[in-house]
Amino acid sequence: MSSPRRPLRSQDWFGRKDKLGFIHRSWTKAEGFPQSAFDGKPVIGICNSWSELTSCNAHLRQTAEAVKRGVWEAGGFPLEFPTISLGEPLMRPTTMMFRNLMAMDVEESIRANPLDGIVLLAGCDKTTPAQLMGAASADIPTIMVTGGPMLRGMYKNKPIGSGTDVWKFDGDRRSGKISIEEFCSIESCMSRSAGHCMTMGTASTMTSLAEALGMTLTGCASIPASDSRHREIAHRSGVRIVDMVWENLIPSRIMTAQAMENAIRVDMAIGGSTNAIIHLKAIAGRLGLDFPLEKFDEIARTTPVLANISPSGKYLMEDFYYAGGLPALMNEILDLLHGGALTATGKTMAENLVGAECYNPEVILPRDKPLQPTGGTVILRGNICPNGAVLKTSAADPKLLQHTGRAVVFENHSDLLARVDSPDLDIDENCVMVLKNGGPHGGPGMPELGNLPVPSKLLQRGITDILRISDARMSGTSYGACVLHVSPESAIGGPLAAVQTGDQIRLDVENRTLDVLIDEHEMNRRLRLFELPEAAYERGWGKIFLDNVLQADEGCDFAVLKGKGSKTEPALPF
Ligand code: FES
Repeated sequence: MSSPRRPLRSQDWFGRKDKLGFIHRSWTKAEGFPQSAFDGKPVIGICNSWSELTSCNAHLRQTAEAVKRGVWEAGGFPLEFPTISLGEPLMRPTTMMFRNLMAMDVEESIRANPLDGIVLLAGCDKTTPAQLMGAASADIPTIMVTGGPMLRGMYKNKPIGSGTDVWKFDGDRRSGKISIEEFCSIESCMSRSAGHCMTMGTASTMTSLAEALGMTLTGCASIPASDSRHREIAHRSGVRIVDMVWENLIPSRIMTAQAMENAIRVDMAIGGSTNAIIHLKAIAGRLGLDFPLEKFDEIARTTPVLANISPSGKYLMEDFYYAGGLPALMNEILDLLHGGALTATGKTMAENLVGAECYNPEVILPRDKPLQPTGGTVILRGNICPNGAVLKTSAADPKLLQHTGRAVVFENHSDLLARVDSPDLDIDENCVMVLKNGGPHGGPGMPELGNLPVPSKLLQRGITDILRISDARMSGTSYGACVLHVSPESAIGGPLAAVQTGDQIRLDVENRTLDVLIDEHEMNRRLRLFELPEAAYERGWGKIFLDNVLQADEGCDFAVLKGKGSKTEPALPF
């Protein structure tokens, strides 16, 4: 396909016939590139979140080589560059502290360099939204190649899933069902190939939503990392980005309000991670788009859950790919999507999905036999959460969805760890566990603490779910009746701070409410006594984060990074 040529941004660096042009070309030629690389070829930045500290993305150096082949083939000039990477299993206190930092790194690396188009390489949870946020703000032609899930874990000839089965085996260890030796022996069986978590956790959710937003080639998100077709689609993405440059197909033309609605719809149909709500709000905010949290609820009510994938369902991402992957699922709900939304392929979503087929209706369920008739996530409001809270109903025990119980409050994570397994903890299965100080300020960084462990004394009685409430997030691989993202958070004096052990709490999912059963006068009295805790950071990134981070209902971005701004890039400094 050939589009009319247009002036290239990179030529402002490489096309100059002056001292600056000399400097730009000469030093870049030090890498061994010929003069022909600078003569008007689109310069394609390959924005790589590869890192040995981010095991889920550790194969992306090979992926980048495949992208480069495609870029050269299409007449472009590829230049790979690193950004910080966010590895979920290792980073402390939580990768969420650094998502905005990575997004800023991506945005400024793009803006400051002679790039005409971008290929984003992401995988582990936060790397996908961080790259999409940064690219949305930079807004030059961009395509994403998602890293792909791991192959399914296998233990004693049975499939086991990232994260989800860790929580299960940990419960077995704590209740004495398995030994510590057996527990440790399982770890090698779970993560046995390249790629990100292979449950429908945050990584698979966000990569699927990148595809639903239209930012990848069709089918990209579901391909396992170690399948040769991962590098094949990376190659084709390299070819495609060169045309996208000539077409000036920029993120703001793709990630429109309709594309956002498609992503929310797909999030519900895959039973996606609750973290997606925060990330989609943040991505949309970068583009000046806004929608209330209730948009997720509204779309959920008319979307069946069709992906029978853990933690909501039974299978894993490898099975999802063999069953037809995301295109097959999206084709099943095509009438519910904005089929006319433009995508990175240059075609509409509906055009992309022509011919998409389901090969295993056990894994991608038909519309008339859904896993759940309506979407797996609800938005709650009430006197605990006036600005909203989130509950993934598809992963919760249904009998807890209409529930009133006595609060057992933990002031912070340390308090929780100290008491949760104590035989003296006064708790039964009808109680409601409450964790404070898990939000953006309190965590700090809103860590994934919202899946509070079920107390050992209940596990030993065979009780595996209990209603839990916090202002924290939860891993997308987790499950249970966990109300999350309570906003505003307790650490800044949100009403959750006023909840005390012994209060009655009522969850009414049917009416989307969550309340502590105390009157307004008592609530106000308690909040007047609230004292701000000492800030977790006094300098550095932590301080910048705390000074700027917005609450969960606004996507936890920084206000200063929202919207597009009206100014163009500053002129060259000399
Ligand atoms: Fe990286 Fe799960 S730890 S995707």
